Amino acid sequence: MHLHKYEKIWLSFGFAALIIFLSVVGVSAFHQGHAPSGGLQKVDPDNLEAIPPFDKPGVYEKEDGSYEVIAIAEAFGYTPSEIQVPTGEEVTFKVTSKDVTHSFSIVDTNVNMMVVPGHVNEKTHTFEESGTYLIVCNEYCGSGHHFMSMEIEVVDQ
Ligand code: CUA
Repeated sequence: MHLHKYEKIWLSFGFAALIIFLSVVGVSAFHQGHAPSGGLQKVDPDNLEAIPPFDKPGVYEKEDGSYEVIAIAEAFGYTPSEIQVPTGEEVTFKVTSKDVTHSFSIVDTNVNMMVVPGHVNEKTHTFEESGTYLIVCNEYCGSGHHFMSMEIEVVDQ
């Protein structure tokens, strides 16, 4: 088979780029311990009942008037499954998973976290409008994935 000179040059470019890309992914995954963005805080997924704050999932008002929501994702639902928070206040969601990778995506907001067992992911959001917000799982996690959801009731104070 005869290869034209330019064809050889472009083929080597292609192979070199492929090797560089795979090395970057390989090093970040196997050497640096690939983790989801934000999930720097670690937690033992098999022992969540004993580890604060995940031993008591729920909504907490903090001293500065903002709120914290502690939630656990598990096939196929969230604990707690329904919460209530006020409008206009900062709400920080701290979420982890008990079993497999899920997500915590609040419809109509920019909150969309990947929830990975062993890691704690968090995101802060202020609800400007009252109403019922749906949280869904965006990561395929098994046969009940499509039913995995929870609700946030945002109420005017
Ligand atoms: Cu949990 Cu999909």
